[in-house]
Amino acid sequence: MDLFEQCKLVLNKNWKGKFTIPSPRLYPFQWNWDSGFIALGNLYTNPERAITEMETLFSGQWKNGFLPHILFHNAEKYNSYFPSADYWNSSISTDATPRLKSSGITQPPVHAFVLEKMLDMNLDKDRISKLVKKTIAYHAFLYKQREYKNTGLLSIWHNWESGMDNSPWWDRALSRIDEELIHAIELERKDVQEVAESESTRPKDIDYKRYLYLVNTLKANKYDSIDNHYSFQMLDPVFNSILIQSNKSLIRLGELLGIDTSSIQQKLEDGLVHFEKYLWNEEAQLYFPYDLVIQEQVKIKCSGSYIPIFAGIPSESRVKKMIEPWLKKQHLLPFPSCSPDQKGFERKNYWRGPVWVNMNWMIWKGLLSYKLFEEADIIKNKTIGLVEKYGIYEYFDPFEDAKAPIGYGGSDFSWTAALVIDMIKSKTQ
Ligand code: GLC
Repeated sequence: MDLFEQCKLVLNKNWKGKFTIPSPRLYPFQWNWDSGFIALGNLYTNPERAITEMETLFSGQWKNGFLPHILFHNAEKYNSYFPSADYWNSSISTDATPRLKSSGITQPPVHAFVLEKMLDMNLDKDRISKLVKKTIAYHAFLYKQREYKNTGLLSIWHNWESGMDNSPWWDRALSRIDEELIHAIELERKDVQEVAESESTRPKDIDYKRYLYLVNTLKANKYDSIDNHYSFQMLDPVFNSILIQSNKSLIRLGELLGIDTSSIQQKLEDGLVHFEKYLWNEEAQLYFPYDLVIQEQVKIKCSGSYIPIFAGIPSESRVKKMIEPWLKKQHLLPFPSCSPDQKGFERKNYWRGPVWVNMNWMIWKGLLSYKLFEEADIIKNKTIGLVEKYGIYEYFDPFEDAKAPIGYGGSDFSWTAALVIDMIKSKTQ
């Protein structure tokens, strides 16, 4: 069976009637940014599923516009996830959707560029319009709750909100949570039972306790606010690049569908100006997160450092300079979630070194938008090659010469399948 058919099979297998799970057993519910990426793949094989996926996701939108990172459809059916629906207890917020249990944090806002693609592929305009309006409400809510001092940039309140759960980018902020505060936190982790070599491929217990400490603190504030000394307040270049790209898509969608997006325009402009000020590092010639608690950048080279390319933020000459070293490296695959020469790198551990297909997909898309076709092709071919060789896994070893097994985390991973489909099927020139 060729790779396209294998990917289609994974998406079919993980489809649960109204939404797609990211991976069997490991992630049995609906995840926010996963759904956006998954919809992109389904657009080529089953467009009805793609739009239903987004409608199901937005059925979990809270009254205030917030869109949670996990929707626990059929929570009673699956006891296999921690922290569970009951742990999150979203009903603590009066804004939460009473009929659907969810988490109380969000994930990068990928939806608008997915909807834009749906419109370009001629899906039902009325259904898309409804989703566009909901997305505008979601962005408006994020600005209201998370904008840092009128910069047009949003702050994230939890490492899980970045989607890059245990990236070394978050180490310093998390280490501010004192061990004394967390030793009593009890863990009932299920992920470590589901994957191979979990000690080296998943976050450590001590880290997990810190993640839960942040959840507990947010929950105590009904997922509505933080106080000044809350330890995790971060301007993440990935979250903000995705937001900027989505804002551009919303403005175009608004023009094509006759929907007012004036509230977004100013925020987009503000965001672009301040992105350069807070997140660009001249010396490293890369983008880094900005830690609001200590008002300092987190200077570690990660794949997220390149995601601003996706949103068309750097100039073309800057993009070429950023990308060049990767095109020459023979022993390393683009783009390790953390570069091997950085403190915090771990070859097999989740977001601390392995390659993730969604990051490569965004960088590839970005390169295409700059018409850097040759560079884009290299990234695309290496990414497809990796999946072809090792399987439709969650993440991959970043070294070319790695010995098997090389695919880590969940197998039959939906966004890997979906984005490979998009890479195979997209007309790129
Ligand atoms: C992991 C990833 C996150 C993803 C989730 C479901 O937690 O870090 O980005 O959304 O799995 O696939």
